[in-house]
Amino acid sequence: MTVGWVSRVNFQPPMIAVCINRSHFTPKGIQENGSFSINIPNRSMLEVTDYCGLKSGKTTDKSKLFELFRGQLHTAPMIAECPLNMECKLVQTVELPSNYLFIGEIVAAYCEERFMTDGQPDIKKINPFVLSMPDNSYWSVGELVGKAWQAGKQFQKAEEQGSADGSPPKGAGRGFREMYERKPPWDIDGPQSEIVRLAEQGEIKPPVLDVGCGTGENALYLAGIGLEVLGIDFIPAAIEKALSKAKGRSSAPAFLVWDALNLQNLGKKFNTVIDSGFFHALPDEKRPVFVKSLAAVLNPGGTYLMMCFSEHQPGSWGPRRVTQAEIRKCFSRGWQVNYIREAKFDTNRGPLKCNAWLCSITMAAQ
Ligand SMILES: Cc1cc2nc3c(=O)[nH]c(=O)nc-3n(C[C@H](O)[C@H](O)[C@H](O)COP(=O)(O)O)c2cc1C
Repeated sequence: MTVGWVSRVNFQPPMIAVCINRSHFTPKGIQENGSFSINIPNRSMLEVTDYCGLKSGKTTDKSKLFELFRGQLHTAPMIAECPLNMECKLVQTVELPSNYLFIGEIVAAYCEERFMTDGQPDIKKINPFVLSMPDNSYWSVGELVGKAWQAGKQFQKAEEQGSADGSPPKGAGRGFREMYERKPPWDIDGPQSEIVRLAEQGEIKPPVLDVGCGTGENALYLAGIGLEVLGIDFIPAAIEKALSKAKGRSSAPAFLVWDALNLQNLGKKFNTVIDSGFFHALPDEKRPVFVKSLAAVLNPGGTYLMMCFSEHQPGSWGPRRVTQAEIRKCFSRGWQVNYIREAKFDTNRGPLKCNAWLCSITMAAQ
C-alpha cells in the first residue's frame, strides 16, 4: 500500500514508524508476520504508487505489479524497482482511535550502487517524490538549499556574539540582520560602479560567485549582461529580497543562503568570485578560513575580485578598515595579487562614497 505518514522515530537501534488506517488490508499482514518493509519509489513510479493508494489488497493482488525480493526476515517482501528498501521488524503497535502506528526496527536497508555516492544513498540519484497535504500533490525534490547541522552555525555564532555584551556586533550577524530589515548603506538599488567597470573591462569571467551578495544588485546586474551568476549571503532576509528582485527577470542569477566560510560544500566551481564588502567584515582568525574556502570553489587560474574598506576611510563608523599589507599577507601562498587599487564604495547616503581597495587576486594553477 501507499503510505505518506512515515517517520524515523528512534536513533539507536534505528526505528521507523508508519501510520495506517485500521480499515485497510495491510495491517492484518503486518500483525500476522511481525514485519513490514518500506520501499521508496522514484519519480518514474509515481503513477503505480498512486494506484497502490487507490486500490485495496482486499480486492486486488498488488504484489503482481512489481518484482519482489526477500531479505533477512523473509516475511517482508520488498520492491526491486524501488531504489531504496528498508526491512523492518515490528517492535511496537500503538493503537490510535482510527489508525495503528506500527513501529519497526530497521534490520536491513538495500540500495544499489547506482543510487549511491560515497557509499551513501544519494537523494538526487534516487530521485524520489514527496507528498504534500492537504492539497494532495506530489513534488519532486528541488535544488540543494543548505547543509543540515551547518546552515545555522553562522546564525548561532552571530546570536552568541550579539548577546555577549548586548551591543551590536562589529562585523557580522545580528548587526547585518538588523540593517537588512531596513536598508543598509551599501544597498544602492543598482550595482557598485566598480563592479560595472570590472565587467566592462572583461575582468569578470563566468561562472561567477558573488560572496556576501546582500540583496543581490551586483549579481542581478551581471546576470543582466548575460553572465551565469550565483549570489550567496548568510542573512536570509538579504537573500529573500534578492530573490524577490530576481522574480520575473528573464536572466536572473541564482541566490542561496550560504556561509562563505563553507564554499567547499557548494558543489560547484567558478572562474570569478566577486566580493563587494564581505572580506572587510571578517575577523582576523576567519581570514585564513575564508581564503581556504575560496580556493575550494575557484577553478585554477580563477580570480577573486574584492572590494573592501581601506584604512584611508576617515572616522570609525562602518566596517573595519583593511590595509594593503593585510590583503597581501592573506594571499601570500598559492595566489597572485594582480593589483590592489584605490577605489570607492557607492552608498545610498547622498553623494557619500567610501575609500576602498579594489583587488584582483588569481589562484595559482595547481
Ligand atoms: C499518496 C497517498 C498516501 C497515503 N498515505 C496513507 C497513510 O499514510 N496511511 C494510510 O492508512 N493510508 C494511506 N493512503 C491510503 C492507502 O494507501 C489506500 O487506502 C490503500 O488502498 C490501502 O491499501 P490496503 O487496503 O491494501 O492496505 C495513502 C494513499 C495515497 C494515494
